[in-house]
Amino acid sequence: MDTGDAPVMLPQAADALAESHALAFTLTLDGVSRQAFVVRAGGALHAYVDSCRHQSRTLDVGGGVVVEAGLIPCRHHGAMYRVEDGVCVSGPCAGAALTRLALERREGRWWCVGRLR
Ligand code: FES
Repeated sequence: MDTGDAPVMLPQAADALAESHALAFTLTLDGVSRQAFVVRAGGALHAYVDSCRHQSRTLDVGGGVVVEAGLIPCRHHGAMYRVEDGVCVSGPCAGAALTRLALERREGRWWCVGRLR
């Protein structure tokens, strides 16, 4: 079944994203439009669906500094997600994980190519 999912080119600002900062974008995943974000940590980019595993609310990381001591906080009830793999290490959904997204470099731009498998 064709879900309509297609690679999404990230905003040009992803190239210049500062350490510990995030940038929001949208993609279609399994046929549903979803909010997502890319964050730079340790020099690398990581991307996740912006949906907390506690109550499916956005983590509210659309801009500014979001990584604190290697963790991405959810502003609602304090869940803390490890930036490298999206696993919640403390808070109400400890042990659950954000949906990781795969990034690829194509012709000088970053693309999100769907769920990381
Ligand atoms: S919605 Fe994120 S911790 Fe509750």
